[in-house]
Amino acid sequence: MQWCAAACAFGAHETLAARELSPRRYSRVQLTDGRGQPLKAASLVAGRNYIFHYPFESTPCFLLNLGRPATRAVRLRTEDGSDYQWTGGVGPRNAIVGYSAICTHRMSYPTPQISFIAYREKSTASAVMRPNTIHCCSEHSEYDPAAGGKVLGGPAPQPLSAILLEYDTRTDGLHATGTLGGEMFNAFFAKYEFKLAIDYGETRTRRQVAGRTAVIDLQQFCKQQVRC
Ligand code: FES
Repeated sequence: MQWCAAACAFGAHETLAARELSPRRYSRVQLTDGRGQPLKAASLVAGRNYIFHYPFESTPCFLLNLGRPATRAVRLRTEDGSDYQWTGGVGPRNAIVGYSAICTHRMSYPTPQISFIAYREKSTASAVMRPNTIHCCSEHSEYDPAAGGKVLGGPAPQPLSAILLEYDTRTDGLHATGTLGGEMFNAFFAKYEFKLAIDYGETRTRRQVAGRTAVIDLQQFCKQQVRC
């Protein structure tokens, strides 16, 4: 009886204490411009959507210069109840952030043909869209890129997975080193296997990016951007 009471109390304690999620490290990859030259942080236009692929060759991410410091540390929680801390942007003004561009609701993502999800500044926001958010027009999930990809509205069950970025003050260059938050890559590959094989090729779909990855303006990457 005594043993049971102790075990039950321990179990309850374990249930209550949220798990702390560690960053997941992948290859350290240099971000480059479209010509394969190291990208300079100074070249990123504030408010513009840039896409790069990381940590897999078929998984798109947003690179954003928010145009204002994102220095607030934010506690976040994944759908399965793990906690983690996002520590802010990088770059000269801590205004540069990276996120997986896969919506955590039903995994809408930017393809070369069409994108329902993008960052919208004040000038391009609409009646259904808060300014300065990443908004998915599929079912209107909205994320705060200045707060670790936190969910602001809509059906998304967890924040966007953040991409860990390193900034080199000497060269003004950027590297991606891993992810932080709830990853959805396995579900993404399972759901879109056929489509990803057409767009990226079967062997590239699940291949991890190595060495460098190109940063492309979303307008160049994607033929049609859906606005809502
Ligand atoms: S897939 Fe983005 S809101 Fe549903």
